[in-house]
Amino acid sequence: MDLAAAMARIAELEEKLAAADRAVSVKGNGNRVAANGGINAGDVIGSLLMTGGTFQGDVYIGEPTNDPREALDIYRQVLIPRLGHLPLRAIVPSSPDNKAAERPDLAQVYVALDTKSLEEPPEGFGKKRERAEPTEAKRLSALEAAIRNRQLVLLGDPGSGKSTFVAHLGLCLAAHALFPNDRWLDRLPGWPQAEGHLVPLHVVLRDFARSSALQQAGGEPNAKQLWGFLVEQLDRQNLDFAAKPIAAALEKGEALVILDGLDEIASVRNRRLARDAVQAFAARYSRCRLIATCRTLSYQVPSCDAALANVPTFELAPFDQTQIDRFIDAWYRELGRLGTPSRASGILDGALSGHGGAIPSVRPGNGYET
Ligand SMILES: Nc1ncnc2c1ncn2[C@@H]1O[C@H](COP(=O)(O)OP(=O)(O)O)[C@@H](O)[C@H]1O
Ligand SMILES: [Mg+2]
Repeated sequence: MDLAAAMARIAELEEKLAAADRAVSVKGNGNRVAANGGINAGDVIGSLLMTGGTFQGDVYIGEPTNDPREALDIYRQVLIPRLGHLPLRAIVPSSPDNKAAERPDLAQVYVALDTKSLEEPPEGFGKKRERAEPTEAKRLSALEAAIRNRQLVLLGDPGSGKSTFVAHLGLCLAAHALFPNDRWLDRLPGWPQAEGHLVPLHVVLRDFARSSALQQAGGEPNAKQLWGFLVEQLDRQNLDFAAKPIAAALEKGEALVILDGLDEIASVRNRRLARDAVQAFAARYSRCRLIATCRTLSYQVPSCDAALANVPTFELAPFDQTQIDRFIDAWYRELGRLGTPSRASGILDGALSGHGGAIPSVRPGNGYET
């Protein structure tokens, strides 16, 4: 089952549950499933619906659980829609894009991205002969950079795909843990099987910078500031019961910490505060994987107040022609699936024309969220 099918299935089941609720008005665990009689075990995806839970936006509406695995599964199910849908505004400017079901599905339109770094030649290559034949250097893919470096900063121009890359990675990992037979790891070629169950934590750094967890902390920068923000976020989402298992995953090095938009923190003071807190968090949970993103320009200025010490950087390369072709194909297919009015295709065409190399129609001010 792919993401779209899974989400459609969840929506369908939620509708059935809501209808059953109206009819029977029974609350609670097994009761609910048993009382409505319309849903059998085979209909239930993962464990979420077993708890009688549902979502409103990214807020969980349902019973808490003390079972750590179930808690993480519920957390992942709430995370998936948050990571898995792209804003549609640049393609259909007047579209009310707050309904997840009507937005493009990231898993359907995602195109793999490269970095500007070159692949290292294989071990021992060219050593035997003094002058090795020059071979065509291959670009290191963004995914490969993330696989090889447990902590990294991904750089790129605005609209180059930084947020999309990290969202796709988090999405595939969350979906793989929930639907292990649905080949989600195949979408991340080379990702170590043993790390397929990592718990993705998604932090929008401008939200962290504004948070009371950071602003009211005082004293030396420390890992509790970012942890405090994560807990605030979980509380807001009614997922406070997931905090304990997430803390355990962090301790064991079994989390992927995504920190999106170091450059999007407006004031220098806040950017430094957040940077120092992130640095402390990265050191405290040094066994975890961590990816931060930042605009290239903001990161490369001397005395950069966003730079993380000792964390390697990789810069996203612009799309090449093959990637542009794949991107256009994927979007047309997805717009067709969504039944988007044909004018959308015209807008997409217009946005694409005249762009060579960079991702089309994703410039700031074009309506896209970055
Ligand atoms: N790898 C990709 N595959 C398909 N579409 C992408 C990809 N990367 C970016 N996009 C498109 O470009 C838009 C802007 O990318 P985004 O990730 O927000 O850029 P950044 O975070 O670097 O500013 C996304 O909303 C998406 O529509
Ligand atoms: Mg971004």
